[in-house]
Amino acid sequence: TAADVVVLGAGPAGLVLANLLLAAGIDCVVLERADRSHVQTRARAGFLAPNTVRILDRHGLADGLHRHGRTHGTCEFRTGDGRFRLDYGSLGRGEVHTVYPQQNLVTDLLTHYLDAGGRIHFETEALSVHDADGARPYVTTREPDGRPARWDARYVAGCDGRHGASRRSLPPTAVRQHHDHGVSWLGLLAEAPPSLDAVGYAVHDRGFAGHMARSPQVTRYYLQYRRGASADAWSEERIWDELDLRMRAAEHGPLRRGPIIERGVVDLACDVIEPLRHGSLLLAGDAASLTAPAAAKGANLAVLEAEILAGALAETLAAGDDAALDRYSAQCLARIWRAQEFTQWMTGLLHAIPAPDSDPSGGSFFQASLRRARLDSLRTSRAHQDWFAENYVGV
Ligand code: APR
Repeated sequence: TAADVVVLGAGPAGLVLANLLLAAGIDCVVLERADRSHVQTRARAGFLAPNTVRILDRHGLADGLHRHGRTHGTCEFRTGDGRFRLDYGSLGRGEVHTVYPQQNLVTDLLTHYLDAGGRIHFETEALSVHDADGARPYVTTREPDGRPARWDARYVAGCDGRHGASRRSLPPTAVRQHHDHGVSWLGLLAEAPPSLDAVGYAVHDRGFAGHMARSPQVTRYYLQYRRGASADAWSEERIWDELDLRMRAAEHGPLRRGPIIERGVVDLACDVIEPLRHGSLLLAGDAASLTAPAAAKGANLAVLEAEILAGALAETLAAGDDAALDRYSAQCLARIWRAQEFTQWMTGLLHAIPAPDSDPSGGSFFQASLRRARLDSLRTSRAHQDWFAENYVGV
């Protein structure tokens, strides 16, 4: 029960990192709380940025996404002033997304890791990271049989997401910067083909609605939703009626309905932990920072950070000097804050932000007018469109 690098969590961050460490000949082990089938079937993000695809290509991890993923380069905004499309694949740097469901990517990464002889322990929950300020940290765990155990390491990679042991084990010097965007979404998966050949963003006085293709059989929708309401508060019929209204189906064509196979409420919030390095504990992915899902940055940041961290760990373990690890945090934070800034912009573009009860001055009307002006600029200014495209696909 020891390894040079103990990786906590088998999401995109942990599995990219583990694959790269293994390929570099570094002794590592992954500890994952869930069982294997849970990890491989959890539906989450699906829009891979071009830089993410380049990273996966570089390390021979992109076969599946090239075979089964589809490129995507158009989004459509629907507003009270009509609709317009941005072919972001031919704007900005001329780059597109690859749509590939995250559970498929995770399955590919896991298969590749196991085929290469990688070590992973499922149903093994990290409880706490200890002695991270020294050279001999260790992780306490609950093993599959329920018994406690201890894993010794030289470095611990905290890739165990927003509710993991890494975040719970941070020293008081860690700073968590948190921002609540003040809006919530009802996230839906419908067993229905996509209704349009573009990402759809509907800006409506009743609130935002979104449409994102996942596969020919399954489509993701989002509805801005009352904070605190239960995910089951609306019937399927109410959901489709509301989507029709906000996406202005009467004007732009009907939505293809189907059974709702998954639903959940997300409060749009974000945070950043600074720094990402705490002695021998290094954070990556959601454990390091959360982004609101409005701009699909989470999984892309996770892959980017994993590659930078793998390089830094390899250099440090080979050279015995941790200058590369010292740079890790600053290198990632520059990217994280760019992603946060764009996500914040996008969140402001898309939502009818509920006016605070204490604001009788028509604040929300002012916000709505600004939003309308911003959309108008995006519809008409090539420079604004290039900026949007570059940031939309970039990390
Ligand atoms: N011990 C071991 N494993 C844990 C623990 C724990 N205490 N807590 C959580 N985990 C596991 C989870 O079961 C999960 O498999 O850590 C993994 C974390 O994976 P993700 O949440 O997918 O996080 P990450 O790899 O950082 O991916 C980030 O992917 O879907 C996007 O939007 C999502 O931004 C997120 C991104």
